[in-house]
Amino acid sequence: MAETASGTRARRLALRKLPGLVRHPLDALVEAGNAANGEIVRLGVGSVGPYLVTSPDHLETVLHNPDRYVREGLLWDGVRRAVGEAILVTEGPVWKSSRDVLRPLFTPGRVNTMTDRMAEAIRDAVTDLEGTARTGGTVDAASELARIVCRATMRVLFGDRISVPDAVRMVDAFGVIATEMIPRIVLPWAPNWLPLPGDRAFAAAVATLDDIVLPIIREVRRNPDGGEDVISTLCAARGVDGEEVTEQQIRDDVVAMVSTSTETTIAVLSWLWPVLAAHPEVAARLHAEVDRVVGNSEVRRSHVPQLRYTRMVLDELLRLWPAGWFIPRMAVGDEVLGGTRIEAGATILVSPYVTHRMAAFWSDPDDFDPERFDPDGPKPEPYYSYFPFGGGQHRCLGQYLFAVEAPLIIATLLSRFRPELVGPADFTPRLGASLRPATEARLVLRPVRAVVA
Ligand code: HEM
Repeated sequence: MAETASGTRARRLALRKLPGLVRHPLDALVEAGNAANGEIVRLGVGSVGPYLVTSPDHLETVLHNPDRYVREGLLWDGVRRAVGEAILVTEGPVWKSSRDVLRPLFTPGRVNTMTDRMAEAIRDAVTDLEGTARTGGTVDAASELARIVCRATMRVLFGDRISVPDAVRMVDAFGVIATEMIPRIVLPWAPNWLPLPGDRAFAAAVATLDDIVLPIIREVRRNPDGGEDVISTLCAARGVDGEEVTEQQIRDDVVAMVSTSTETTIAVLSWLWPVLAAHPEVAARLHAEVDRVVGNSEVRRSHVPQLRYTRMVLDELLRLWPAGWFIPRMAVGDEVLGGTRIEAGATILVSPYVTHRMAAFWSDPDDFDPERFDPDGPKPEPYYSYFPFGGGQHRCLGQYLFAVEAPLIIATLLSRFRPELVGPADFTPRLGASLRPATEARLVLRPVRAVVA
């Protein structure tokens, strides 16, 4: 590597490894991160290609300097085509105004007031599975999780203004968007006028989102009822200078909030079934905890803090399959990061997935081991070796909601059923903006009382 006045040039991913990057991008990124052992790696040929940044120190610099490292390029152009100028993608005053409006809905105090209603919605959705469980039929794990998460989320965040079937249609549309944007991420130099595979499906999915949310937003703006849900809150808000917020801006934030509040939770929980099938000892401990804490009663808010092992399993699921696996940034000006020169406009690959699987920070990183997150043990060190919810000013708004919702879902399902995966456990991820298993998981739901008897 050549020394320069302002820093060294980044290491490069060996050319012979580039085909691997296209065929198995996640494995190749982890391999590149491990090979560089925390140093910055440039992926690509010549003077183009993103920089892979994996070391916790460097990540902290990038995530905590949002004026110098912005959400532009790569992933963000694709997300922007779906959610426009929403909280999830913007910077500066537009971002701050959305964040200020939405933040009060997600504080721990506010989420605690929603928890029993959320538990009830989850219970109702899980009860619908009893018929299939009694007959010994199988269910599609992803569809059922989507239905359960949508029922809970639409009830507590969206005041049931979006029906569960429509919310499920939106989740399906997000699934299409998350995968069909990949060709444009892989070919960032392709101009928008050049049709690429996936463009039509992407546009149809965006149209579905608009068809569902725009009539609801128009109705709430025509007849405001002082509701405290996400849509009412966004419709009642004023812009940076006290002006009325445009319909487009409200639409963008509503779509972004439906997307982040459903897709991420569904994605993380969808890894639980292959994990439990491959790790009977984890399944046994999880079932024992739910039996002890919940027993024959209905899952309530007071159970959540007692579900300690469930929390450890969730933390480990978030380590190995963080739904926001890829949160790139663009350098606004020329930078020297960790001694490496980075030119203005370059893309910085920030990936919790990669850092969470690096041998420099984790022992046996590919093993599923919830003990890493024993609350009586040491916290993961250094801080940015584990960051499933991002960091800095864009840190996830829904982290506490997830910490309540996910244990409620697991405890409700496992207090009623012993789900068994049909077929082998497959841990291959499907590449998209979020991270879900590539193969469809089918489950047999054995009723718990029958198992205990
Ligand atoms: C397992 C569940 C979740 C994961 C892994 C996750 C992950 C993340 C990550 C990594 C970011 C940072 C993005 C960045 O730095 O550019 C983020 C931001 C965000 N998340 Fe989550 N999230 C989850 C659940 C949720 C839920 C349930 C909600 C809402 C109800 C939510 C709402 C948001 C919002 C609004 C932002 C943007 C914050 C901002 O830019 O100011 N997330 N999330």
